[in-house]
Amino acid sequence: MKTVILDARANEREAVTRAVELLGQGELVALPTETVYGLAGNALDPEVVAKIYEAKERPSFDPLIIHIGSKDWLARLARSTETELIIRKLIERFWPGPLTILFTKSDEVPDLVTAGLDTVAIRIPRNPIFLAVLTGFGKPLAAPSANRFGRVSPTRAVHALEELDRRIPLILDAGPTELGVESTIVRVRGGRIEILRPGPVTEQDLASVATTEDSGGLQKIIAPGQVPSHYAPEKPVYLFDLNTIGPTWRNHALICWGPVHHPHDFALVRSLSETRDLRIAAQRLYSLLREIDRLEIEGIVIEPVPEHGLGKAIMNRIRRAAAPRGKGP
Ligand code: TXA
Ligand code: MG
Repeated sequence: MKTVILDARANEREAVTRAVELLGQGELVALPTETVYGLAGNALDPEVVAKIYEAKERPSFDPLIIHIGSKDWLARLARSTETELIIRKLIERFWPGPLTILFTKSDEVPDLVTAGLDTVAIRIPRNPIFLAVLTGFGKPLAAPSANRFGRVSPTRAVHALEELDRRIPLILDAGPTELGVESTIVRVRGGRIEILRPGPVTEQDLASVATTEDSGGLQKIIAPGQVPSHYAPEKPVYLFDLNTIGPTWRNHALICWGPVHHPHDFALVRSLSETRDLRIAAQRLYSLLREIDRLEIEGIVIEPVPEHGLGKAIMNRIRRAAAPRGKGP
């Protein structure tokens, strides 16, 4: 299968129409969201959902996020919990946007989407191209990040092509994604907001709605968390530590925080953000990892960023990129 990239900025109508047509035929399409590019398919058709797992080489125990174009779909996809006051407030405040909320699933959601769990993850994205496709298609779209399992999420159309070339018919290009890291995932329980995956909607943002709790990640709920390495390039990734700088780092690249430093100790040094802006760091992280992964170097060293606000999401991804490999189930 040939994979075509259509520039959705140059000709939005044509691009959206083509995507809707293919989705209607049960095909998969990679689409931009405000976080990362997603691999979208009809969420209500188990055969299409199966294709998503196959294209991504994703184990079927790892559930997908459903993207909807309007809140009206909640009544069909989720059981009554969405009426809970905290969830209502979260939706009012953060949708459309990078917040994914877990609901008790209804029978309309295929078990394959939720990997057999009785909860379903749902969000309304805010990227206008994605929203236009959702409106045109008229049904919910299951869309994991458009990368092969365990690898770095795509923040540009060409990244999605690198990951899924010849596996899907179409990628819509809307330029680099606005936020650069995946949505925040939460579950509301016992009057608290449990943060399952830190993301662009920060703990401080959520705390304006209710008490928050860092659950220690998705690990406890679902299997993929047991694979510590995720969001990972092919080359080994290490955390930067001033005390370990030595000759062995000379054939490694450094991704630093703030102005470039130690240029002579590494093969190459690039900055996440010269001005120490966490938003820029989030936007750049995945494309820097991809770019550097292609070079003839031995490994990638990343300097930690301050772990507050968006920094939590960034450090979560960096740690998982740097986690030991191959210890999964
Ligand atoms: O920003 C995003 O969330 C992007 C864009 C495309 O929307 N999507 C994304 O999807 O990151 P994915 O599949 O790469 O990551 C979704 C995570 C997975 O770790 C999955 O295990 C978890 O959400 N998840 C999905 N449904 C779940 C559920 N019912 N319970 C617990 N975790 C769930
Ligand atoms: Mg992913």
